[in-house]
Amino acid sequence: MDKKMSIYLDNNLSTPLYIQLFIQLKNLIVEGVFQPNEKLPPIRKLAQQLGVNTITVVNAYKKLESEGLAYSIVGSGTYVASFNRHEQPLPHLQESEHLRMMEKGQVQVGEDTINLASTTPTPDLFPVDSFKILINKVLDRDKGEAFGYHQIQGYQPLRESICNYLKTFSIDVLTDDVHVISGAQQGIDIISKALIEYGDCVFVESPTYRGALEAFKSRGAKIIEIPMQEDGIDLDTLKNALSTYHPKFIYVMPYFQNPTGYSYSHAKKIGILKIAREHKTFIVEDDSLSELSFTDERPLPLKALDKHQTVIYIKSFSKIFMPGLRLGFMIVPETLRGRVISAKHTSDISTSGLIQRTFDLYLRENIWLDHIKYMKEEYKRRYEIFLQAVEKSFPKNVKYKAPDGGLHIWFELPPGYSDQELYARCLKKGVLITPGSLFYHQNHDIRHFRLSFAAVNSEKIQAGVKTVGKVLYEYLGENVSSELHTKEYSPLL
Ligand SMILES: Cc1ncc(COP(=O)(O)O)c(C=O)c1O
Repeated sequence: MDKKMSIYLDNNLSTPLYIQLFIQLKNLIVEGVFQPNEKLPPIRKLAQQLGVNTITVVNAYKKLESEGLAYSIVGSGTYVASFNRHEQPLPHLQESEHLRMMEKGQVQVGEDTINLASTTPTPDLFPVDSFKILINKVLDRDKGEAFGYHQIQGYQPLRESICNYLKTFSIDVLTDDVHVISGAQQGIDIISKALIEYGDCVFVESPTYRGALEAFKSRGAKIIEIPMQEDGIDLDTLKNALSTYHPKFIYVMPYFQNPTGYSYSHAKKIGILKIAREHKTFIVEDDSLSELSFTDERPLPLKALDKHQTVIYIKSFSKIFMPGLRLGFMIVPETLRGRVISAKHTSDISTSGLIQRTFDLYLRENIWLDHIKYMKEEYKRRYEIFLQAVEKSFPKNVKYKAPDGGLHIWFELPPGYSDQELYARCLKKGVLITPGSLFYHQNHDIRHFRLSFAAVNSEKIQAGVKTVGKVLYEYLGENVSSELHTKEYSPLL
């Protein structure tokens, strides 16, 4: 068998090529395709065959060496080490396959794996009892009506209740401004369809939500990344970029941003609105977590401050209700209404009427606010456990800013260490984390990772964080990677 033929490197992945190569070579070694003491292909030859720079192969080989999977003989080449083959990387999927799935927003979790990667609530938090009562009410009241096609823009009574609910956030809009959608992801997709032509430019915070990047890429958008700071997007870089490009919109998450957990200061909110208006571009505000503020301060979305129809507001209920319902809404400026309705129509005609009618009762019967209060208390409890465990278990040179709410924290490794490597090591110990590089388009930041406490109960939070802490101490105690990781971006050859 030509062993290199089974190696596939994908330039479109944010995972650096040398890491992709390292992982695949490692798998070939672990699977026994390469035998102990067998010589690995010569660097130049393999680089040529794979169409990559020789430094990519050099770094992959070095990494194999640092993992104890290979050794080199000066003047001769790199050879497979003898090692215990029972330490398989993963039970079902290979690491590279895991990463590819993560890029598409999916993870495979083994039964014993502690999932600190997902931000999806555990099913025990879902309000199944109240849902059962309300869905039966709808069925008794509306009978077959509940199962017909519904208005493309959404069930009118629900849009009215949404308008009332939004008053709590100082957002004053009309029912005609509200569009019901089948989840925020569909909202992002619809806005992309309605606004982006192939080659159009879109600005995003950097890092940003992967699902949005994929939607913009699918429309052929040119994506410009504007750095995210602890108090919101970097306004100076934004202004500079706007002097060169005219984006169709700026996609932002002002509350508990995914993945950083950072929120915008009031000044940044005012700043971005002013800048967007001056440059005649829209802001797409993606709000999935503003309700989950653990302080007494009431959230004030950008939309509440928008006096000039600059903001397209997208609301997800997945993290605070039940993601499988596929329900959310948008507030869309009047000038875009027609285009958005057409895009929704070609997407799924309308969101499930039964679900819309049931959710309408949540809002009308004031059950919603009680539910939110419950979710907030539960998440706050988990957050405190999580934070305490982090403070106790993590090395001090792993940096983070603890947010005032939301479902996740963004951590920074010291220079020279890699998120993918940490990810692989944690997975080996049974904990799933999210490597930060998945949240970038082209910026090759490989020193961050995101941990969430949404998808695990308290005991697992403690056990998972403790394990990650141990892995971090072990990894950061090794002096192997600084040379390796800086070289990938400043080739020596
Ligand atoms: C920032 C952000 N926007 C949108 C979505 C998609 O939400 P929904 O389930 O409502 O489609 C997610 C899901 O994780 C998200 O994190």
